[in-house]
Amino acid sequence: MREPGILKHTAVAVSDGRIAMIGAASDLLNVYADAEVVDCRGGVLTPGLVDSHSHAVFGKARFEEHELRAEGLDYMEIAKRGGGIHSSVRDFRERSEDELYDLALPRIKELASYGTTTLEIKSGYGLSIDDELKALRVIGRLADALPLRIVATWLGAHEIPHEYRISEERRRSFVDLLVEDLLPKVVEQGIARFADVFCEPGVFTLDETRRILDESRKAGLGLKLHADELEACGGAELAASLNATSADHLAAISKHGIAALAKSDTVATLLPGTMLFLGRAKQAPARELIEAGAAVALATDFNPGTSPTVNFPLMLTLGMSQLHMSLAEVLAAATVNGAAALGLAGETGQIAPGFAADLALFGITDVRELPYWYGARLCVGSWRAGVPCHPYETVSKLNPRPPEVVPAG
Ligand code: NIG
Ligand code: FE
Repeated sequence: MREPGILKHTAVAVSDGRIAMIGAASDLLNVYADAEVVDCRGGVLTPGLVDSHSHAVFGKARFEEHELRAEGLDYMEIAKRGGGIHSSVRDFRERSEDELYDLALPRIKELASYGTTTLEIKSGYGLSIDDELKALRVIGRLADALPLRIVATWLGAHEIPHEYRISEERRRSFVDLLVEDLLPKVVEQGIARFADVFCEPGVFTLDETRRILDESRKAGLGLKLHADELEACGGAELAASLNATSADHLAAISKHGIAALAKSDTVATLLPGTMLFLGRAKQAPARELIEAGAAVALATDFNPGTSPTVNFPLMLTLGMSQLHMSLAEVLAAATVNGAAALGLAGETGQIAPGFAADLALFGITDVRELPYWYGARLCVGSWRAGVPCHPYETVSKLNPRPPEVVPAG
């Protein structure tokens, strides 16, 4: 994570959606004389950003909870009173598939305008068979409609609905429903690549999480885990022992958890926007994780409760100023390590021959400006497999350098 590999005066040749050659523009034009040329006008070209953790399909906003927290109530207390995820679930169940799609589409376009070209989206506001399948269908439709690379995760275990919290037996029956009824449908319909569980005191226990993830793996899904977000409970250790693709949040991870992740191939995905927005003093121990040898990714956690932001570069800012990561580390965390957190490490997240031509162009002259102008939208264009993703609609006000397209021939 120490070597970002920054090149100057360099051009990238794209052929059939893949990066074919990197070098001086004149050399590339000798080989690809008929190519369409995009003049990046001295801007900074990065791998398209890979946002590997979001809950981007939801109905209403939850700004009233933001006010309650400002008054001193905490996230779990709000959830106990019927707010939090429960409140999004009630709202989600009342909305049609089309309505949810229409709400998500502009939100995700906005997200793409910041330079993200790969986005993971979780279900988890349905929490019934029909509503979880509805959520995953919406994600599938968004993937078909948008040029972004969208990866679907089934998070049926996002919360225990109130109707199942009345007794231990009812609670067990919800886990049975997830594993025995819903999971087979998700797999049969081929609408999710990963399974995820919110493993946290007050939500799913370690044993429940292990059961859901074990069954999900047997059914062919990759594994992710909301682990040790607010309290340490062994989530990181469980993720490592299951060889999960990623363990996410980790703001309360224990020393033992850090050691377990460092020894594993599980990516530690940190979500500094969430802790910032919840007003929590303690961020995930990124330095300890990196120094122990864990692979660290950053993501937005875009969702209506704990991180209502679509601005991925802002997470890079927080990565540096709150998590004390270096520039090279936050760049790797938002690209190559984000890709690894989605099982896409050989496909996207690097500008290298053979990789998909997923690229983001920023209207700045030095890559250090990306996390520096915090909160700004600096992206002036992006491509997924060579196809425009965010087509130069927004020009950076700070340092406008829109690319210029010169037609083929
Ligand atoms: O990643 N922690 C669980 N899930 C989300 C929050 C979802 C919500 O509050 O709506 C998270 O922070
Ligand atoms: Fe999350």
